[in-house]
Amino acid sequence: MRQSQLIYTSRPFGFDDQTLNGILLSARHFNVRDGITGALICRDDMYLQMLEGPRNLVTATFARILRDDRHVEVVGLWSGDTTTRMFADWAMRHDPFRSWMWTRAEVAQGAVHKASADEIRAVFARVAAEPLSANEEAPSTPAG
Ligand SMILES: Cc1cc2nc3c(=O)[nH]c(=O)nc-3n(C[C@H](O)[C@H](O)[C@H](O)COP(=O)(O)O)c2cc1C
Repeated sequence: MRQSQLIYTSRPFGFDDQTLNGILLSARHFNVRDGITGALICRDDMYLQMLEGPRNLVTATFARILRDDRHVEVVGLWSGDTTTRMFADWAMRHDPFRSWMWTRAEVAQGAVHKASADEIRAVFARVAAEPLSANEEAPSTPAG
């Protein structure tokens, strides 16, 4: 079945464990309901998220995310159709920012916004291929 994917970046507003847990709890709740999967890469200066699922539901989810005051400067980076999900088993995988992505200075200079769609998609492809390390969490409930 054809699926739609959407990638955006934003800047956290009020970044702490409690806020992040609240975001992930609600994301997973709605994503299981809607058959959305994806990954959220988090650092205190940046979120980078992929949403994937039926196009209308990805659009509706992104519309809610755009209104959320727990982040600012939400910018869509890429959207398109695909036949395979990258994060099929994850209602929303939570990934740390990894050292091979961008440095803090590069993020501050807008590297994520300047990256090409292929580069951004390659980040998620690499994340999907990497197992989570021991101090990260187990899979969340798969979406249907
Ligand atoms: C960085 C970030 C990522 C989010 N990811 C999702 C998500 O994947 N799915 C989702 O339904 N809501 C997600 N949310 C929460 C939504 O913004 C929203 O609060 C939630 O969908 C409930 O909608 P409502 O606030 O309009 O009731 C995210 C919020 C933030 C700040």
